[in-house]
Amino acid sequence: MTPVERARQAFADAFGGEPEGVWAAPGRVNVIGEHTDYNDGFVLPVALPHTTRAAVARREGGLVALVSAQHPGDRVEVPVAELAPGRPDGWAGYPAGVVDALRDRVPGGVSVLVDGDVPAGMGLSSSAALSCSVALALRDLAAPDLAVADLVDVARSAENDFVGAPTGILDQSASLLCTAGHALFLDTRDRSSEQVPLDLAAAGLELLVVDTGTTHDHATGGYGDRRRECEQAAERLGVRALRDVADVAAIAPLDDGTAEGAVLLRRARHVVTENARVLEVVRILRGTGGPAEIGPVLTAGHASLRDDFQISTGELDTAVATALEAGAAGARMVGGGFGGSAVVLVGADRTHTVAQAIADRFGQEGLTPPRAFAVVPSPGAQRLA
Ligand code: GLA
Repeated sequence: MTPVERARQAFADAFGGEPEGVWAAPGRVNVIGEHTDYNDGFVLPVALPHTTRAAVARREGGLVALVSAQHPGDRVEVPVAELAPGRPDGWAGYPAGVVDALRDRVPGGVSVLVDGDVPAGMGLSSSAALSCSVALALRDLAAPDLAVADLVDVARSAENDFVGAPTGILDQSASLLCTAGHALFLDTRDRSSEQVPLDLAAAGLELLVVDTGTTHDHATGGYGDRRRECEQAAERLGVRALRDVADVAAIAPLDDGTAEGAVLLRRARHVVTENARVLEVVRILRGTGGPAEIGPVLTAGHASLRDDFQISTGELDTAVATALEAGAAGARMVGGGFGGSAVVLVGADRTHTVAQAIADRFGQEGLTPPRAFAVVPSPGAQRLA
């Protein structure tokens, strides 16, 4: 069965009848530009081949009915009029948050079946894949006046306002706007973007995602702390956002001799240098040198997330260090941090060696060997049927 057939079948099993269509939205892996999005900075994601499919039909009676192939038996039904932050919660909060944001467009309610293969909790934006697939479906069915770019805000509001995870727009932008064979160079302040060609195969390279199996939850914990620290640093520096800091010299005033000042200096240094790394990677990719040259910039990004932003984990550090020792061109943790995946840029002839070296090291340290898979820059959200 194709993914479309499976989604149609599961929809029919859950609701009877046919969906009005089937849509897909991918997860993402960020090449570089981590924790820059809520600082008005730059990001450079690619879409994964892994997607969430949403089979959707409008209904009558004012109910939102949600079923997930990944959560069998967990059927969620809530009147549109009663949708509110946290009701429903869990996986259903993402599609419900999208319906809530567009509730005027679907007063009769909707039936939604989702089926996806983006690994969850791994820093690969399974949540954005979920919300963006439903957002694109509702746009096509009930809100044709909205541009795809407007859906970034719809999906973001599901995540920020409904689920309560204070994220930026990286994941939703990547899921909706990426194109196959390209990385999306996005300025998160003015939303201008450029599709930067990224043909790794032609350069004999592969992008390996290494899923360490440790999970995170951005609705609680460290992600929000980092965001607040960045806002505080910007306020002390008298700028609208850390994006507006010219260079590392300009953040020196944060170091006021207190422990708190030292922390803010580190956080700001990550954001300032990370924005510079995005620009550097884009410069390299636009040039003639070839994508292998971005390797050291990715690795520098990892050091910054580990030492200045302090959101890496022992597993992620081990994966990155082992990949580099085994001959990778570059490696870094990806996503919000505190667990999840690393991405490794590696010569295609060394992919197996690198993956094996990581698996061996994890085994020696008594850790579950990570899952590793190569990804190619894939299409953004689209209607499949
Ligand atoms: C998570 C968030 C994004 C972004 C990244 C870090 O994926 O959802 O908005 O902040 O972390 O770059």
